[in-house]
Formats: sequence, structure tokens, C-alpha cells
Amino acid sequence: TSLRALVLSGSSRSGSVNVRLAALVTAMVREAGAVAEPVTLRDFPMPPYDGDAEAGEGLPEGALALCRRIEAAQALIIASPEYNASVPGVLKNAVDWVSRYRLQPFKDKQTLLVSASPSMVGGNRGLWALRVPLEHLGARVYPDMFSLAGAHHAFAEDGALTDQGLAERLTATIGSFLDLVEADTRYLCLQRR
Ligand code: FNR
Repeated sequence: TSLRALVLSGSSRSGSVNVRLAALVTAMVREAGAVAEPVTLRDFPMPPYDGDAEAGEGLPEGALALCRRIEAAQALIIASPEYNASVPGVLKNAVDWVSRYRLQPFKDKQTLLVSASPSMVGGNRGLWALRVPLEHLGARVYPDMFSLAGAHHAFAEDGALTDQGLAERLTATIGSFLDLVEADTRYLCLQRR
């Protein structure tokens, strides 16, 4: 396939467990034969949303660049930490800026949500909170999500998950998500003929 997946991490810090999870997901997507591009929000610098700035200068360059990358991908995969049981503000800010772009690029975008956290819940509440704005914007958020608990001790040296069962579940989730994206993309191509 020539499916293109954008793998966006909601944390950019060095040593981020979500950047590590995004790297593993990227490797799995490539293993499945698709193109995967890992990025973080640091690749798309943007100020806090400000309606006056938008009215004056329009969208900041970083937000425009992120819009174009989402547009160019058939699949969006977001790996995000949970902050205070919700979406990190920086990620919500990026969603808000992107939502102002026309045509709004989250619309109909096949999207998979994953999270990692040192906690026992794996940041899953953050993903439920992230679902709300994404589904509001018309993204097709995949029903299944993957949350990695105890993430500080979950990775081997080579970036794989040490728990074989978890690794298999993540591989299966990505596989069935990509199958859906491929079927959806083929359907859209047929419709455009
Ligand atoms: C956290 N963390 C956290 N973890 C969690 O499981 N539930 C939570 O509600 C929160 N809340 C929270 C708020 C803030 C402001 C910070 C900075 C952190 C801990 C968080 O999961 C941990 O720092 C992860 O390592 C962050 O992800 P990255 O940066 O490693 O990808």
C-alpha cells in the first residue's frame, strides 16, 4: 500500500514515553507496508490561540504546516500523555488552531489514539478527553484505543515492548486500523471516478 500515516506525539520532551510509543507505532506501521512520519508539536511551533492574532495575521506558520501535514496523510495517529485527567493544553491548542483552517483537515480523517503514562491507567482518560474535540470536528476516531500503563518500565533497549501480549495487541490494533483506512481510501477513490 502507499498509505501515509502522520504519527503526532503530544509530548515533545527528550525521554518522553509518548515519543517512544510514537516511534514504536511508526515502526509497526512501516512493518505493515505503509508510510509513517513521526512528528512532535515542536515541529509546529504556534502561540496560544488568540482571536486578534488570527484576525490580523491569520494562522501561525506552525499551525499551517500542521494542517498541510494532516491533509497529506490518509491516517492520523496521535500518541499523547494525559495531563490532569485530560488533554495536554499544548495539544488542545494545536487542535484549536487547526480547526480554524479551511477546509478543516480533521474532517473525515481516520484517526487512531494511543497514550503512555507511568500510571496504572496508561493515560486513557486523556484519550477520552481528546476524542471529544476530534469527533466534534468530524474525525473518524477509531473505536479501539491503546494505553500503555507503567510506561517508564515498559520498553526494552531497542524500543520494543517487553510484554509480548501487549506488543501483540498494539500490532493487531494498528493492523486493523490500517485495514480500515485502506478500505476507506479505496472507497473514496471509487467515488471520485
Ligand atoms: C502529568 N502526569 C499524569 N499522568 C497520568 O497518568 N494522569 C494524569 O492526570 C497526569 N497529570 C499530569 C499533569 C501534568 C501537568 C504533568 C506534567 C504530568 C504524568 C505524565 O503521565 C508523565 O509525566 C508522562 O511521562 C508524560 O508523558 P511524556 O512526556 O513522558 O510523553
